[in-house]
Amino acid sequence: MEIDISDLKRITELVKTNHSYDFTNYAMSSFKRRIVRILEMHNLTIDALIKKLYDKNFLEEFLTEITVNVTEMFRDPPFWRVLRDDIIPAILLNHQKIRIWHAGCSSGEEVFSMAIMLKEMGILDSVSLIATDLDTEILNRAKSGVYNLKSMELNEKNYIRYQGTGTLKDYYKEVNGTAVLDPGLVENVSYRKHDLVLGDVFNKFDLILCRNVMIYFNQTLQNEVLKKFHESLFKYGYLAIGSKESLIWCDIANKFIVVNNEEKVYKKIKD
Ligand SMILES: C[S@@+](CC[C@H](N)C(=O)[O-])C[C@H]1O[C@@H](n2cnc3c(N)ncnc32)[C@H](O)[C@@H]1O
Repeated sequence: MEIDISDLKRITELVKTNHSYDFTNYAMSSFKRRIVRILEMHNLTIDALIKKLYDKNFLEEFLTEITVNVTEMFRDPPFWRVLRDDIIPAILLNHQKIRIWHAGCSSGEEVFSMAIMLKEMGILDSVSLIATDLDTEILNRAKSGVYNLKSMELNEKNYIRYQGTGTLKDYYKEVNGTAVLDPGLVENVSYRKHDLVLGDVFNKFDLILCRNVMIYFNQTLQNEVLKKFHESLFKYGYLAIGSKESLIWCDIANKFIVVNNEEKVYKKIKD
């Protein structure tokens, strides 16, 4: 299906004006692919899609389709080993209470991984976790902690590679063909809707995870969002991004040092 830049512009302008979401600076190629997918799935023309986008209910569906929600527990296991063995112990040297923000938490697997890791380290109660996403539907899934049983196979493999102290089965029950994660793990997690593009800086953190989110933004937007993360970190706080992402080229690069280049962990050294 052929759509051109002017069609994409019509869509982003409508969504921005009517619903206050700004996709203008999302990476063009993946945004276009997603629009084509929506058109094909719903058997719509561009004009029909634009009409439907005035409807708030359809907009929620549109948001879920536009944003890529793919995630896993203990995604990139070596990253989680670095967190457990280097980053969290380094933060604990200076803080008794740790504040962590999962930005773009999707369906919450990353948050459960963090909670399991912290529980196994014996410090779950000393950590406050905030998990945010743009997409309400995916955030509700995160809050429910109910996952497809099949997805637990990959999660279990990741957990084994991470070298956790137990087995992932210790943390969920099988109920009617689903995996229900132990709600006790996340009882202190605050899940909130927050838009990294239009949302404000809302707090200060010791560690921010924003993994596999900025990959869908163009460089202008990555730059803006990274400035917000810089502002949201305490001095000497840590920022973890996705393995295919980097901040070395951005405006605030000189305010961070690279702590682990492989696993893309950076430390704020200047205000
Ligand atoms: C691929 S998932 C990443 C999930 C997890 N961090 C991981 O690495 O597995 C990307 C998430 O970013 C969210 N997202 C996209 N644009 C966003 C924005 N402007 N503000 C907040 N979240 C956003 C999407 O809704 C999606 O859930």
